[in-house]
Formats: sequence, C-alpha cells, structure tokens
Amino acid sequence: MALSAPHAAGYVNGVSTEDLSPVRLRPAIAAMAAYKQGRVPSEHGFKLSSNENPYPPLPGVLEAVARADALNRYPDGAALAVRERLAERFAVGIEQVHLGSGSVALLSQFINAAAGPGDEVIYAWRSFEAYPGLVTVSGATSVRLPNRADGGHDLQAMTDAITENTRVLIVCTPNNPTGPIVTAAEFDAFMSRVPTDRLVLLDEAYFEFTTDPDRVDGAPLLGRYPNLVLLRTFSKAYGLAGLRIGYAVGPTAILNAARSAAIPMSVTDAAQAAALASLDRQDELLERVARIALRRDRLRDALIDQGWNVPEAQGNFVWLALGEETAAAADTFFDADLAVRAFPPEGIRISIGEDESVEKLLEVCGEIVQNLPPHHPVRRLG
Ligand SMILES: Cc1ncc(COP(=O)(O)O)c(C=O)c1O
Repeated sequence: MALSAPHAAGYVNGVSTEDLSPVRLRPAIAAMAAYKQGRVPSEHGFKLSSNENPYPPLPGVLEAVARADALNRYPDGAALAVRERLAERFAVGIEQVHLGSGSVALLSQFINAAAGPGDEVIYAWRSFEAYPGLVTVSGATSVRLPNRADGGHDLQAMTDAITENTRVLIVCTPNNPTGPIVTAAEFDAFMSRVPTDRLVLLDEAYFEFTTDPDRVDGAPLLGRYPNLVLLRTFSKAYGLAGLRIGYAVGPTAILNAARSAAIPMSVTDAAQAAALASLDRQDELLERVARIALRRDRLRDALIDQGWNVPEAQGNFVWLALGEETAAAADTFFDADLAVRAFPPEGIRISIGEDESVEKLLEVCGEIVQNLPPHHPVRRLG
C-alpha cells in the first residue's frame, strides 16, 4: 500500500508539520487539546489554580507512606484494607467500594464501562474540565447543558436532554468551577426523572468542604437507587493530590464493570497507606477542612463587599464570571504572583490557599473590580 506523501513544511491547523505523524490516529483524539494544569507561581507566590489543599499531609501520613517501601513489588491490586475501612464508613459491602488512581481515573472507567460510539453522556457546563476529554476518549458524545445563571446545574434541562442514546449523566456537586451545590431535594427530583437503566455519577470531589445543610449527600442514598454511583477523592480535603487516590461507592455490578475498564494495580501501596493513615485522623482532617471553609466564606464576603458578584461557594474555591475580561484579569493575578485558573471567555476560579494569600488576593481583586466596565455582570449593582 502506498504511503501518503510527506506533508509540506509548515503548519496544518496550527500544528507544525514536524509534529504530524503518518500513523493513523483516531481523529477525535488527535484533535483534542492537551489537558491544561494550573499555572505555577514563583516560589514566593501562591498557587491557587488547582483546588489543592494548602496544608501538608497530616502528621503520621508521611511515616505511613515511608513504611510502604516495597517498591520492587506490585501494590495490592484489590486495595482491600482501604476498601474495608470505607465499606465500614458507608455501611456497604466491600464489593461496593472501588478505588482508582484519583477520582478522575474512576470517571474514565465508569464512562468507558457504560458509553461508547453512538452513546451520549450528559453533564452541566461549565463543570470539571476533564469531563469532555474523558467522554471523547470513550468514543461517546458529550451533551453539555449550560449552568443556570447562578452557576448551579440546570437539572431539569439535563433530564429533558435524555434520549434513547443517553448512557451516563454526571452531576458535580459542588460544581467545579462555579461553586454551587445541588440540594438533596433537587437531586431526589432529578433521580426520579432518570430511567434506572442509565448510570448517574455523583461527583462529590469537594463534598467535605460543603457547609450548606441542604446539600445532597450521596452516602444515605446508596441502596436507594440501582443506577447511582458516588465518587469521592483523597486529593482535596485529605490533601493527598500528589499520591492519586479516589474512590467510588455504588452497586456491585456497576463497580465490577468499572473494574474491568481499569488499568490493573494503578493505586500504589503508598497511596493506600496514606489514605488509611488519613482516615485514622479524621478529627484533625475535619478541623483543617473547617478552617478552609471558613476562609472561603470570609473571602467570598470580602469580595462581595468589594463589589463582586460571587456565586454560592461550597467547594474550596470561588468563581468570578469575568467573561471577556478573563484573560486580562488572569494576567493581572499572575503579575502579582498569584496563579489562578482562567477559563476564557467565561471566568476565573480561585482556590482557597494559605491564610497569607488572602490579603494579597483581595488587594488584586479590588484593583481588578475597580477597572471593570461599570455594567459588567460580575459587578454588583448599587
Ligand atoms: C469535580 C472534580 N471531580 C474529580 C476530580 C479529580 O480529582 P482526583 O483525580 O484528584 O481525585 C476533580 C479534580 O480537580 C474535580 O474537580
């Protein structure tokens, strides 16, 4: 078979022809933009771009990781000890708990297990930036429903969009990056409209930071719905983002399908040891989480006082819907050595970082809001 002629020197679709390959790649994959990590400030600045926990691991966690020293051996692929502990906590059987190298790995497994070419995956937008890529990789099609004006999910629109081809619906609460929760009542009504043969992934990556008593909590709903899986992570509240460990809880048959779609043994012993040690130190952990939630509320109040419109913030981040001003504002933050996450032309997400970051952050935010056009929607009227 004849090989096609080499590409002429230059650029095709903005890609240097030197970076093109003669290998037949899946067009949908070749066209994907690479996942963008949060920007990194100088060593004197603050990294507020990746919704990380500003605190180092809890005392005892590093020691537990150091003890997991059999690096020449594969990890316990079944991750039994952590699953046992989580099964106890959620009052479910051990088969109803599944671990992944971060909840993003679990999202990938569940989407791949349930959806493929010709199928549809419904989620709100804007939401977690990994969703579109994960759906594309599965071969399925994303169906994105715009958020409500307050940044929350439009759950009615999401269920109205269900078709014969829908396989998965993802609900992110609190929503990254906008901040609002889905309430328990809203979620109940939503579940009553979703056929039980369609998978619902309740992404609760930031659950521990929520303080609104009306929030949905997936835990008591386990067992009530045969199509519900909840996803949580040790990356955020537990401060273990660097070790990559998250978990899913739900019906065994669905979890088994995800296990089949998983890369075997991808949760390391170090990650398992750190998760166990962190679960042992729940009180200290919750105290830290409460401090971050308090800092978040104070920051949001101060931003509102400065004249910003800030949606309800229930995760460890706040959202400024700067619209067309997003890129310029992101540069202003970066020039002040504050790395934030910009999603032009929609807005900027700012993670709650160290206490010392708040003053500087408010100084820069004050400057930005003063320079916005008077009727910009991110400015509060009056
Ligand atoms: C909504 C949401 N889900 C899942 C994840 C994945 O977290 P991890 O893979 O670190 O568990 C994130 C991370 O930012 C997130 O924001």
